[in-house]
Amino acid sequence: MSTNKRKQLYKIIILGDSGVGKTSLMNQYVNQRFTQQYRATVGADFMAKEVTIDDRMVTLQIWDTAGQERFQSLGGAFYRGADCCVLVYDITNKKTFENLESWKEEFKQQGCPKDPDTFPFVVIGNKSDKASERKVETEFAQQWCKSNGDIKHFETSAKDDTNVNAAFMAIAKAASSQF
Ligand code: GTP
Ligand code: MG
Repeated sequence: MSTNKRKQLYKIIILGDSGVGKTSLMNQYVNQRFTQQYRATVGADFMAKEVTIDDRMVTLQIWDTAGQERFQSLGGAFYRGADCCVLVYDITNKKTFENLESWKEEFKQQGCPKDPDTFPFVVIGNKSDKASERKVETEFAQQWCKSNGDIKHFETSAKDDTNVNAAFMAIAKAASSQF
């Protein structure tokens, strides 16, 4: 009989400012769909997706949260028990990148990860299709990630489906890395 005690369900939480594309990333990854229309997420919601990591079939429970402050009253309750936290910014909006620090701190405080220093974060710079409007240089973001505990960094386009799978594969691996 198998004595494999590794977890089969991993909880992923996606944080970042309103409008950076958190919902769009999840929707592209899980449903292969994208819409230009913006509808603010209220509270939080999750979608599940099965993936194979290292020959193991696991379920990712992906929690999409509201970036808008007025919808954040439920806040920390959703962060608890997360196995990986994804921090998303918009490459055309510098402020959304600068706010990653406070999203990260908020997660550490409210999510109560067991070991905050080794907890796996992944950073995504979304909207890479809007290259001509870029305000955050790739190297600059990579540097920040490096000096913040060697966080993995990806640039994606939820619109064009560029790098979305690769990012979520790394997220799945990061989530399972501790177990
Ligand atoms: P909140 O729910 O308010 O926190 O926002 P969000 O982070 O979930 O953003 P959402 O996914 O709703 O996307 C915001 C807007 O950006 C929408 O109009 C999307 O169509 C658009 N968008 C999302 N991802 C991309 C992308 O990769 N490229 C482009 N060009 N637009 C995108
Ligand atoms: Mg949303």
